Amino acid sequence: MNFTELAERARSYRRFLEGKPVPRGLLRKMIGAAAMAPCASNLQRLRFSIVTGEHDRNTLFPGIGWAGYITDWSGPVPGERPSAYIVVHAPEKEELFTGIDAGIAASHIVLAGAEQGVGSCILLNYDADAVNRTAPAEGYNPVLVIALGYPGETVVLEKDTEKIRYWRDETDVHHVPKLPLETLILKG
Ligand SMILES: Cc1cc2nc3c(=O)[nH]c(=O)nc-3n(C[C@H](O)[C@H](O)[C@H](O)COP(=O)(O)O)c2cc1C
Repeated sequence: MNFTELAERARSYRRFLEGKPVPRGLLRKMIGAAAMAPCASNLQRLRFSIVTGEHDRNTLFPGIGWAGYITDWSGPVPGERPSAYIVVHAPEKEELFTGIDAGIAASHIVLAGAEQGVGSCILLNYDADAVNRTAPAEGYNPVLVIALGYPGETVVLEKDTEKIRYWRDETDVHHVPKLPLETLILKG
């Protein structure tokens, strides 16, 4: 698989095979990819937590807001929920550029997972108290959470459209629209 194929495969998944856990070694390898990511002044301020235990997942899950554009769906039901999460933490006293670092790190995690068939969804809509209870990290705040698991849904890329909102069709397939290059490239 070349990079373009990997980038196309690395969609956001929100329904998973909950009963098929992602091996811990693979989750660690995905964080290893994040460790190689560029970051401001190479300060490497981010830290990561792996959440896999059933109790912890049940603590984290209720605070998550899923797929805001799909208003008649409140999120994955038991059996299709994430089998793991990675929490990205940043020092509470140093906010400069850590959000950018976290985005790049998350992208590395998502791509490293996609290469191995792991589906993911980067999440900003979560309950920080629940995250802190599940993955306590003194002196750090959660910056984002990544839901993970083997995909339990079909996601189709819709290229070269001016649409923004993703949708589900009558067969429950999730469609993700992407803008054409002509719209994206302002000069050149
Ligand atoms: C910073 C960031 C925050 C996001 N937060 C959420 C979220 O809270 N809930 C959710 O269901 N999806 C979330 N997403 C996933 C986006 O909805 C998704 O990336 C977008 O619909 C495009 O789909 P794609 O990732 O398959 O290209 C987030 C993505 C990013 C990059």
